[in-house]
Amino acid sequence: MKIIRTANYEEMSRKAANIISAQVIMKPDSVLGLATGGSPEGIYKQLIEWYNKGDVDFSEITTINLDEYKGLPRESEQSYWYFMHKHFFDHVNVRPQKINVPDGTNPNVEEECARYNQIIKSKGGIDLQLLGIGIDGHIGFNEPADTYELGTHCVDLDESTIEANKRYFEKKEDVPRQAFTMGIGTIMQAKKVLMVVNGAAKADIVREAFFGPVTPRVPASILQMHPDFTLIGDAEALSKI
Ligand code: F6R
Repeated sequence: MKIIRTANYEEMSRKAANIISAQVIMKPDSVLGLATGGSPEGIYKQLIEWYNKGDVDFSEITTINLDEYKGLPRESEQSYWYFMHKHFFDHVNVRPQKINVPDGTNPNVEEECARYNQIIKSKGGIDLQLLGIGIDGHIGFNEPADTYELGTHCVDLDESTIEANKRYFEKKEDVPRQAFTMGIGTIMQAKKVLMVVNGAAKADIVREAFFGPVTPRVPASILQMHPDFTLIGDAEALSKI
């Protein structure tokens, strides 16, 4: 595990964007596992800036997003499909047919999970997986549990996750209670894993996840065992380690 401490969110985003750009420059047809949320927004902004300058080309990449709310159609402004297009895909030359996000509207959970697992397998797995971390230690939407789920599955979201994510919705009741997520096995099989974390609210979970025992009760703790895991955090998020 490599930890990079940055002064603030902007520096965190720039350093992470540098690693992603390097990945794409070295392997233009990289399979990138992507995340949504506040943590990676600055990374996408930076990558768009470098794309506009001609410094990085996304035309050959494949993207595989971590998760999607169950029940939300792509057009919904709160869907992760929408988020990714608004914050990244619509501004760069990634090919639409190479974008993958779980289909939150598929009522057949088993079928959707199998479809998504098959996509990941057919691409040969993920070269670089970008992650954020929830205050309960979730990665993707792998919430604290008794065991690790390996492949794509549908989860009931924890109360703390619903609380944290209500900022994107008009009211808390509108936050979907379930989501599709890539499994821990898939994340662990990614060749490189890059996590960004910022803000004082994440300081406790960062200490617990990366300096405490490895347990599915703190899903992110398994990353301690990943052979190529980099954590980039701002001063506040890393204040307790
Ligand atoms: C999002 C995702 C989640 C977030 C986590 C942190 O695709 O998989 O695990 O990374 O909830 O969210 P933010 O960055 O909004 O604090």
